Amino acid sequence: MAPALFTPLRVRNLDLRNRIVIAPMCQYSAENGCMNSWHLIHLGGLALSGAALVSIEATAVTPEGRISWADVGLWDDETEAAMGRTLEAVRRWSDAPFLIQLSHAGRKASVERPWEGGAQLPESDPRAWRTEAPSAIPWAEGQRPPTALDRAGLQRIREAFAASAVRAARIGLDAIQLHCAHGYLLHQFLSPLSNRRDDDYGGSLENRFRFPLEVFDSVRDAFPAERAVTVRISGTDWVEGGWDLEQTIAFAKALEARGCDAVNITSGGLHPAQQIPVGPNYQVPLARAVKAAVRMPVVAVGLITGFDQAEAIVGTGDADLIALARTILYDPRWPWHAAAELEAKVRAPPQYQRCEPWRVRGLFGES
Ligand SMILES: Cc1cc2nc3c(=O)[nH]c(=O)nc-3n(C[C@H](O)[C@H](O)[C@H](O)COP(=O)(O)O)c2cc1C
Repeated sequence: MAPALFTPLRVRNLDLRNRIVIAPMCQYSAENGCMNSWHLIHLGGLALSGAALVSIEATAVTPEGRISWADVGLWDDETEAAMGRTLEAVRRWSDAPFLIQLSHAGRKASVERPWEGGAQLPESDPRAWRTEAPSAIPWAEGQRPPTALDRAGLQRIREAFAASAVRAARIGLDAIQLHCAHGYLLHQFLSPLSNRRDDDYGGSLENRFRFPLEVFDSVRDAFPAERAVTVRISGTDWVEGGWDLEQTIAFAKALEARGCDAVNITSGGLHPAQQIPVGPNYQVPLARAVKAAVRMPVVAVGLITGFDQAEAIVGTGDADLIALARTILYDPRWPWHAAAELEAKVRAPPQYQRCEPWRVRGLFGES
């Protein structure tokens, strides 16, 4: 019997060859939102990894929605053409499906790249911009507060998400993931710690769901019906009085009722006071609890590094898929090594067939 990690799964139109997903990872290397040769090297390598699905990093739907000034965007013809060129070059050599994470950073925008400290850019920096959020509460003490979005602002951002979804469809992206996690704009609407609005977008759970669900609906409407739209959610803020697992489950159910195809359960990022119990599988209990409440596939992520560890998460039914971020940067052939260890088969490009180790003859035999 094939190991659970290497059994296929169909998610709407998406035929996944195994249960290994590459999580979205910002590269902070774009120029005016445009992908360049770094993204070709990075995504091209990941497309040959044997994973079932490659996620494109958090992609801003407007320039102000970028986290840093060097983030990738999909807001105009230029950013679309740059991403289209990158994908075209990768697709010449790989048929790996690609998902794009559409995002708006809200109050966590306008920062320096992480390897340059990641701090909010001073107002005097020509690369800085004014941030927007549900309420005028900064992410951290000492930061400039964001502007609270008015109704016109909400409409503008909803439309920007839909427009990016149309662009994503045009350049052949196979699926979308709406970024509702890690303290970015849509998560800022969900969490009572960042959303203090007194209109119908704040207060009750139903009101805090409203904007993210409206954005989900407009993205779903804008993207071809046969292609998947999924969501990434932080399962908890890890802060007393914040967004928690119970609210996550209610949100996941509301998304499922609107046609969401899968959810990826991560955590944190909303508040600097978070206390995260980091360790192997630390977010798997969150995924398991969501999976118990919904029928759509659930993705677990976070310090999944071992082959048996990944097999156990899928095999015991804690989650349907696992996502890897740091693990696959460190070992871009992780899915090959997992297949060898678990006695499964995996895909490798014909150019690399000759590296199949003699001890695992037939490893690259997946058709
Ligand atoms: C370099 C890097 C960039 C990341 N960028 C994103 C991103 O664009 N969007 C996102 O939702 N998460 C992002 N993350 C978080 C990962 O997707 C993942 O959830 C997290 O790293 C935990 O998985 P891991 O233990 O396998 O790294 C990033 C992580 C890393 C290491």
